[in-house]
Amino acid sequence: MRPLALSELLLTELQRAEGDAAAAPPLNRRLYLSLRGAILAGRITAGVQLPSTRDLARDLNLSRNTVMSAINQLTAEGYLTARQGSGTFVSETLPELGPLSPARGRKLAQAASANSGSPRELSQRGQLLTVQSGSADFEVQPFAPGEIEFAEFPIQLWQKLQAKYWRSLDRDLLDYGQEGGYMPLRVAIAQYLSLSRSVRVTPEQVLITSGTQQSLDLAARLLTDHGDEAWVEDPCYWGARRALQAAGLKLKPIAVDLEGMAPSAADWQQGRPRLIYVTPSHQYPLGHVMSLQRRRALLQFAAQQRCWIFEDDYDSEFRFGGRPFASLQGLDEHAQVLYSGTFSKVMYPGIRLGYLVVPTDLLPAFNTGLYDLYRPGQLMLQAALTDFITEGHLNTLIRRLRVAYQARRDELARRIQRCLGDRVQISGQESGLHLCLLFNTPGVDDEAIARAADAQGMTVRPLSRYYLGAPQRRGLILGYAYVPTERVPPWAQKLCMLIRSQLPD
Ligand SMILES: Cc1ncc(COP(=O)(O)O)c(C=O)c1O
Repeated sequence: MRPLALSELLLTELQRAEGDAAAAPPLNRRLYLSLRGAILAGRITAGVQLPSTRDLARDLNLSRNTVMSAINQLTAEGYLTARQGSGTFVSETLPELGPLSPARGRKLAQAASANSGSPRELSQRGQLLTVQSGSADFEVQPFAPGEIEFAEFPIQLWQKLQAKYWRSLDRDLLDYGQEGGYMPLRVAIAQYLSLSRSVRVTPEQVLITSGTQQSLDLAARLLTDHGDEAWVEDPCYWGARRALQAAGLKLKPIAVDLEGMAPSAADWQQGRPRLIYVTPSHQYPLGHVMSLQRRRALLQFAAQQRCWIFEDDYDSEFRFGGRPFASLQGLDEHAQVLYSGTFSKVMYPGIRLGYLVVPTDLLPAFNTGLYDLYRPGQLMLQAALTDFITEGHLNTLIRRLRVAYQARRDELARRIQRCLGDRVQISGQESGLHLCLLFNTPGVDDEAIARAADAQGMTVRPLSRYYLGAPQRRGLILGYAYVPTERVPPWAQKLCMLIRSQLPD
C-alpha cells in the first residue's frame, strides 16, 4: 500500500469514528482505534510500512505527539513492529485481542464457512464454548468494562527497559521459561503480595502465567476431572466460566449477596465441589467485598470437603475507600487456596502476564503442568517487568492511575445519581475499574438498553448476561477507566437519557 493511500484510508477511518465530537474519545485514542480497526479488518495488511509520524501528522492534520502516542500504544500491544533504521510496520502476527477477539474469530469463521460451502462441525466442547460469550459483539467504546487508560502509561520508559534486555541479548532469556518463570520477577511479586495483600508466599510458590485465564485453565486441568462440580459466583466473570467449562466441569451457580458468595444451607450440607472460583476482594461484576465471616466459612468448608478455592484477585490495586481486606489465601490454614493476580489492569491487557500462588505440595505438579501444557516464555518481557517493579515504576503508575480512576468514578457516579435518582442503585464502587448499575424496577430489559447504548457509541454490558441461572437483578456494568474525567459528563448524560427513556416512570 502506498504511504499516501494509507494516510487517506486512515483519514476516512478517523472521520467515520468522529461521531459526537463533544463525547468522542481523545484524538490519540481515536487514531489508535481507527488504525487498530483497519488492521483487524484487514484493510491494512501485515507487513505494510507506515509513513513516518511526521508525515502522518501532516496528512491527518494532527499533532505529532498525538500520532506518536497512538503508534507507541499499538507497538506496545504488538499490532505494529518498529524496525530500527527502517520504520514501523504492521506486525505479521497479531496479538490476542481480549474483548475483541471472540467477535473477530466468529467473523473469520463465518467467512471461512461461507468460502467452503458447508459449515464445519465443532466438538461438543467447542460448541459449548462458542455459544453466546459475555464479551462478544461489543466494540471498545466509552464505558467498556475491562478497558484501561493508556495515556498514563510510561511508554518510553517501558521501551527503554525492554531495549536494555534486547541489547544485552542474554541467550537464557530467549529460551522457554522453565521452573515457573523468571526468578527475580517471582521474588518481586512475592514481596509485593506479602506486603500489600497479606498473601503467605515464598518466591518458589509464585508461577508466572500468561494471565488469569491461563492460571485458571492450569488449576482446573490439574486439580479436577471431567464432570466434577465447580462452584461459581452467580453472576460470574464470563472468562472464568469459559475456562472451567472448557475443562469439562459442571458449574453450580451460587448466589451472591452483600457479603459475597452465599451458599445456601443445602449447598453447605450437600455440596461436593472439587473447586470453588471466587472474587472475594471485589466480586465480579457486582463489586461486593466478601465479609470476614463468609471467608472463614468458605475456608472451613474447603478444608472439610478437601476442595480447592481459586481466589481471583484481579483489581485490588485500585481501592478507593472502604475497609481493605487482606487476601483469602492469607487466612487459609490448610493450604486449600490458589491465589491469582494479573498485570492486565495495572499495566495493559495485551502484556499477557499474571501469576498464580500455589500451595507448596502442589508445586512440582504445577511446574510440570505449566511447562508441558503451554511452553511458557517471554523471559525478556518478564525481566523488563521485574525492573519496572523493583525500580518503583509500578507503584508510581498505580498511584497515578488510582487518582485518575477515582476522579472518573466519582464523576460518573455523581452524574448517574443526579440524573436517575432512586430508579437505580450503584454497587461495587469502592474499588476496581467498573461499577454496577442496578435497576430498582424488576424486569427491565438490560440487553435492549445495552444494544441501544451500543448504537449510540457506548459499550455497557447487561448484568443479566453474567448469570448462569435466572438473573436475580437487571443492570449494567460500566467501565470508567477508559473515559477521561472531562469527557464523563457528556457521555454520562447521553447514557442516563437513554436509560431514562427505557425505564418506567
Ligand atoms: C474477574 C476478572 N478476573 C481476571 C481478569 C483478567 O484476566 P487476564 O489476566 O486473563 O487478562 C479480568 C479482566 O477483565 C476480570 O474481570
